[in-house]
Amino acid sequence: MKFGWLEVALTAASVANANPLAYSPPHYPSPWMTGAGDWAEAYQRAVDFVSGLTLAEKVNLTTGAGWMQERCVGETGGIPRLGMWGMCMQDSPLGVRDSDYASAFSAGVNVAATWDKRLAYQRGQAMGEEHRDKGVDVQLGPVAGPLGTYPDGGRNWEGFSPDPVLTGVMMAETIKGIQDSGVIACAKHFIGNEAEHFRQAGEAQGYGFNISQSVSSNIDDKLMHELYLWPFVDAVRAGVGSVMCSYNQINNSYGCQNSHTLNKLLKGELGFQGFVMSDWGAHHSGVSAALAGLDMSMPGDVVLGSPYSYWGTNLTVSVLNGTVPEWRIDDMAVRIMSAYYKVGRDRVRTRPNFSSWTRDEYSYDHFMFKDGWEKVNERVDVQRDHAAGIRKIGADSTVLLKNNGALPLTHNERFIAVLGEDAGSNPHGANGCDDRGCDDGTLAMGWGSGTANFPYLVTPEQAIQAEALSGDRNTNVFAVTDNWALDKVAATAAQADVAIVFVNSDSGEGYINVDGNEGDRKNMTLWKNGEELIKTAAKSCNNTIVVIHSTGSVLVSDWYDNDNITAILWAGIPGQESGNSLVDVLYGRVNPGAKSPFTWGKTRKDYGAPLFAVPNNGADAPQDNFEDGLFIDYRRFDKDNTEPIYEFGYGLSYTTFAFSDLKVTPLSAPKYHPTTGKTKKAPELGEPGDASDNLYPDDIRVVRQYLYPYLNSTDLRASSGDPEYGMHSKKYLPKGSSDGSAQKLLPASGPSGGNPGLFEDLYQVTATITNTGSVAGDEVPQLYVSLGGKDDPVKVLRQFDRVTVAPGESVQWTTTLNRRDVSNWDVASQNWVVSNAQKKVYVGNSSRKLPLSADLPKAH
Ligand SMILES: *[C@@H]1O[C@H](CO)[C@@H](O)[C@H](O)[C@H]1NC(C)=O
Ligand SMILES: *[C@@H]1O[C@H](CO)[C@@H](O)[C@H](O)[C@H]1NC(C)=O
Ligand SMILES: *[C@@H]1O[C@H](CO)[C@@H](O)[C@H](O)[C@H]1NC(C)=O
Ligand SMILES: *[C@@H]1O[C@H](CO)[C@@H](O)[C@H](O)[C@H]1NC(C)=O
Ligand SMILES: *[C@@H]1O[C@H](CO)[C@@H](O)[C@H](O)[C@H]1NC(C)=O
Ligand SMILES: *[C@@H]1O[C@H](CO)[C@@H](O)[C@H](O)[C@H]1NC(C)=O
Ligand SMILES: *[C@@H]1O[C@H](CO)[C@@H](O)[C@H](O)[C@H]1NC(C)=O
Ligand SMILES: *[C@@H]1O[C@H](CO)[C@@H](O)[C@H](O)[C@H]1NC(C)=O
Ligand SMILES: *[C@@H]1O[C@H](CO)[C@@H](O)[C@H](O)[C@H]1NC(C)=O
Ligand SMILES: *[C@@H]1O[C@H](CO)[C@@H](O)[C@H](O)[C@H]1NC(C)=O
Ligand SMILES: *[C@@H]1O[C@H](CO)[C@@H](O)[C@H](O)[C@H]1NC(C)=O
Repeated sequence: MKFGWLEVALTAASVANANPLAYSPPHYPSPWMTGAGDWAEAYQRAVDFVSGLTLAEKVNLTTGAGWMQERCVGETGGIPRLGMWGMCMQDSPLGVRDSDYASAFSAGVNVAATWDKRLAYQRGQAMGEEHRDKGVDVQLGPVAGPLGTYPDGGRNWEGFSPDPVLTGVMMAETIKGIQDSGVIACAKHFIGNEAEHFRQAGEAQGYGFNISQSVSSNIDDKLMHELYLWPFVDAVRAGVGSVMCSYNQINNSYGCQNSHTLNKLLKGELGFQGFVMSDWGAHHSGVSAALAGLDMSMPGDVVLGSPYSYWGTNLTVSVLNGTVPEWRIDDMAVRIMSAYYKVGRDRVRTRPNFSSWTRDEYSYDHFMFKDGWEKVNERVDVQRDHAAGIRKIGADSTVLLKNNGALPLTHNERFIAVLGEDAGSNPHGANGCDDRGCDDGTLAMGWGSGTANFPYLVTPEQAIQAEALSGDRNTNVFAVTDNWALDKVAATAAQADVAIVFVNSDSGEGYINVDGNEGDRKNMTLWKNGEELIKTAAKSCNNTIVVIHSTGSVLVSDWYDNDNITAILWAGIPGQESGNSLVDVLYGRVNPGAKSPFTWGKTRKDYGAPLFAVPNNGADAPQDNFEDGLFIDYRRFDKDNTEPIYEFGYGLSYTTFAFSDLKVTPLSAPKYHPTTGKTKKAPELGEPGDASDNLYPDDIRVVRQYLYPYLNSTDLRASSGDPEYGMHSKKYLPKGSSDGSAQKLLPASGPSGGNPGLFEDLYQVTATITNTGSVAGDEVPQLYVSLGGKDDPVKVLRQFDRVTVAPGESVQWTTTLNRRDVSNWDVASQNWVVSNAQKKVYVGNSSRKLPLSADLPKAH
């Protein structure tokens, strides 16, 4: 992207040429932080702090030191004059990546399956504690992009669910948990990052796709608001400190320099007060990214391992040559420091005490070029009692899909057959494959950067055997873990009074290819002969229970209704306590209450558009037109009237529940007013000085390829080293991009997540849930709304909870619907509107079991 800041003009030209490529309208200037809402105190402290910094110090806060230069997966420069070391960014959304003596939590998709807000919060808090104690400033999670447009998308499991409300709620709770532990959360990947294929040109070339640019996710304004942006609104409302912009382009403009998504939507409309950091290598230009709203370059270098940066020295130069206004660099620094103060980093901060690059105790201080030697891994145990919570989430996220009386087990079983590789250990150890890039042994995590090392992994085989033999019982337990030894499987199953078959399907991030799956799954069937394994067992044993570990939905059509298959469980990817969690459910210590966070279709076709896996624009950016629009997952099945096998929100229990007494009460809420007025003008917190103030200090020991903020000489061009330096004069800067005067507010905008009127409650809804069975259990009341318009989905999830009900007892569930819940995005007025269409609410325990319904009275 050499012509970074010319891109907008060029794209406009190509549109004028009647080239139908989607186009991203420019939006400048980049909104400066205001300290609105509960950011006020942090903002004031940040302003005070940043006001005392030099230009080079501010630039240090914004730019990573370079790939593998420091201990964390990304680390900025520090401010040694004030005793501040660089900020540490560390993966992942499910635990401290590349570390030791830390927990491997359940994946996001399992958290979604619990439908339990408290568990989401507690997990966030526990993960935050572990990051904090390892010296991490920013935990790189949670994930709402991918949302799950494609059921076979490789990284869906890092996030929660293809439903934006379920994902939004889990995002918010996770963020609150992480940040209450004193660590900054990072909502990612913003936005439209729905497939691994073509997310980066270099990666795609490695797979033989000759493309020069990342895929463009072409998402129209209504779809953006009603689906993809929705969970990020919840993240901003929860006070998230940082957002990561994504690898893909949106309407042919890169995610980290797209002024429409960053300036207009995120910082303008949603009022996001924290900072935007680039995904690793997603930063493609210097000045244009700064003007389009990027605040931090990660890991700093042009490409991982390059000695150059679009920022660092270049950002200092850009401020000095006047292309990036002083207020913009001030705003970057203030946003970063505000997030730092908001979560209390100043109170709980310790230096990173682990190295992402080695498990050795002693190693290089700057790993990339083997510079320095010291103790890099303190091996601090940060796990506390988190194992218990992980076990609970594992059990509470296990969905009972089928049960013909086979479960719970009773301890009267005389012979249990445990069948399938997925029951056992990876022969190379639980961490035997880098970044979990293989599918050997039981599957408890997907692969890629969204992983953590297991401290241990309790396999199903270990846990079932321990349980079956507990209390001096004489049960026989045999495991056959070779998926191709079908005769042994048959022989063992034939003797068993229960055969538990373990199968899986894995996926992950695009930089690792496992068995031809380039991140995204190449199919939705079971891996490693799983179908044959199930069929073989079921032929020999009339009490065959199937347990699925998978990162998403798999096709079960061929066997799910076999009479000999008496129960089916989906256990997702539950993390380190996998076997223990499962045994709790199998033996009924935990009554399953989980609900599927996605649809189980009969065929891949039923889900709509295939995964975007064929470049369609020559060597230029592939164009993903998001053909399914709003209709992904259950909305697609509803629209096409397709029967799924197990619907979104479905899950059985060892008891049964009935729903009754739906009551809808309109609440009095003030009328909705579009936001009007203007911002204050951009504060300027310092003087850039001149080149001579920003030269390399004489006394600094320069680490090889380390990205410093300094200039080599007072000649800006020479210091930049950019062959095209100054070639494009300032008149090419996007119109308005350096304007620091008061700006008009957007009608739908507000300080935390948008116009405050959107979050005013319009209705109260109550329903009664009765446990009609004989054991206590959890039920998940789900409230869906039909917005009633001809282009609207049949229904959309809007509220849910997880409640525990004793046998024979009833609980009254009370919830509310706010204005956003019943609105549509109106492109013309650039605002949310409640349409005139008759709206309806439905309450029940799945997207297709909704016994209660009522018309919604008109909102005022
Ligand atoms: C993409 O283009 C569509 C269609 O013109 C428009 O509605 C939408 O706002 C654009 N989005 C971005 C991020 O540029
Ligand atoms: C920038 O950060 C690096 C690494 O922490 C440090 O060596 C350097 O002194 C910092 N520069 C300034 C101006 O603080
Ligand atoms: C490592 O973390 C522990 C616990 O959080 C902390 O006490 C210690 O100071 C850290 N080590 C270093 C080298 O900062
Ligand atoms: C890749 O595409 C470019 C541009 O179309 C072309 O010049 C080049 O030869 C192609 N490379 C390969 C290996 O096909
Ligand atoms: C400044 O950025 C340009 C690309 O825009 C790059 O070629 C150059 O190496 C960078 N300079 C430094 C010092 O990193
Ligand atoms: C689907 O992919 C998995 C994993 O690569 C593979 O084991 C399986 O054989 C494939 N299924 C089909 C039907 O090709
Ligand atoms: C069910 O299992 C029994 C053995 O218990 C076997 O005889 C029968 O053929 C099996 N049925 C099917 C449909 O495989
Ligand atoms: C299952 O098979 C066993 C013998 O293997 C038999 O005793 C039992 O009745 C069968 N159950 C059903 C439901 O067919
Ligand atoms: C879900 O609700 C239906 C009634 O709509 C009821 O028959 C069923 O038992 C409920 N599911 C569970 C797990 O209780
Ligand atoms: C600036 O100086 C450093 C240290 O001598 C050198 O490594 C770097 O290549 C120089 N950068 C430019 C753009 O000349
Ligand atoms: C200003 O500096 C930036 C960063 O080195 C460079 O890309 C740009 O060409 C310069 N612009 C002018 C007008 O000198």
